[in-house]
Amino acid sequence: MRSVDIILKKRDGGVLGPDEIEFFVHGVASGSLPDYQASALLMAILLRGMTPEETTNLTDAMIRSGSRLDLSDISGPKVDKHSTGGVGDKSSLVIAPIVAACGALVPMMSGRGLGHTGGTLDKLESIPGFRTNLSIPEMKASLAAVGCALIGQSSAIAPADKKLYALRDVTGTIESIPLISASIMSKKIAEGTDALVLDVKTGAGAFMKTHAEARALAESLVRIGKSFGVKTQAVITAMDWPIGRAVGNANEVIESIETLKGRGPVDLVEGSLDLAERMLVSAGVASDRAGAKALACRAIDSGSAVEKFKAIIERQGGDPRVVDDYSRLPKAPKEHVVTAPSGGFVTGLDAGLIGRASVMLGGGRDTAEDAIDPGVGIIVVATVGDAVQKGDAILRLHYRDAMRLQAALPLIEQGTHVGPVRRPAKDLIVDEVV
Ligand code: URA
Repeated sequence: MRSVDIILKKRDGGVLGPDEIEFFVHGVASGSLPDYQASALLMAILLRGMTPEETTNLTDAMIRSGSRLDLSDISGPKVDKHSTGGVGDKSSLVIAPIVAACGALVPMMSGRGLGHTGGTLDKLESIPGFRTNLSIPEMKASLAAVGCALIGQSSAIAPADKKLYALRDVTGTIESIPLISASIMSKKIAEGTDALVLDVKTGAGAFMKTHAEARALAESLVRIGKSFGVKTQAVITAMDWPIGRAVGNANEVIESIETLKGRGPVDLVEGSLDLAERMLVSAGVASDRAGAKALACRAIDSGSAVEKFKAIIERQGGDPRVVDDYSRLPKAPKEHVVTAPSGGFVTGLDAGLIGRASVMLGGGRDTAEDAIDPGVGIIVVATVGDAVQKGDAILRLHYRDAMRLQAALPLIEQGTHVGPVRRPAKDLIVDEVV
């Protein structure tokens, strides 16, 4: 079999057989397929799509590129969540400790920043010392000891996704239902969870811009999860402007900790509780949503959720003192304030453009080799719906490099809108697929 023939077949709209998909995924994971051919096939898949059967075969081959964990020797229900990618979406950092504090086990395999969206691994790694590259025995030991393990793809688990994810980030091949489905579901099935709640984002800051696209992605994800025996459901949520007030890696860790201490912004709290409730019911820890909400709120109010986050940080080699002392987290030295050009209301903060601006500041990658700067980012001082006077701060940009700031500012300007009429509130939860 020749790689170029597989690329040509997909480029011309053909349907790939399981052996061809296996050949591609094996080549990616083993390193025998050069990045240029992998990227060409990714682009052909993005442009031509895949049938549901091809997508399932791709997921299956990506799972089998490493181990599928068997966590049955650790007693207790295992449940996880995953988002399809947002801006300011730090809900995994909030939900994992809450759900673990309520008694479910959370084996969470996440990704890095992808395109204009942030990634849980990059956020966690802004905590000094935090290791996301746990070995399988270390991951299982963490799960048994503190009820949670926050890890990334490795050479042992989902190695094909590790490579494809990094390539897609820098080759314009993210926004594809089959590629997103196989990426997410290969990680989630390989990590050994019993149940899964997916947060499928829709809107300006999401990969799926319309409700119809988000619904199609949600259906694809749920179909694959169920076909591999994982109890899966998806919620479709609005991603038009940044979630909460913080965008950028260390900034988002601080906002997550504040949320665990009971001081989170309303939208982040609402979205995180919705997902946590679904997880607790799905894991059988609570019999209904009301009971799950009571448990989750008690974990925040009693301090057990934030203590759980401390324990997770310590267990994974990080400095738990960051929880009480945010000055231990990286922070870019300079600040630029974006102000309201006139009085009125903030009517738009385009999450796609603001996410791209954060990447420009150094919070994301331009090439697969780039290191990110965990201390840069954006604080939303006035969000959509807030009243502002002329000259009031809307955004604070934390930056290190003036050239990067100059590249980010036009995106910010294009994405920030003030008008005379308050924009009506929008529902966060748009739809679900169960
Ligand atoms: N999250 C993932 O893990 N993969 C994607 O492709 C998108 C979001």
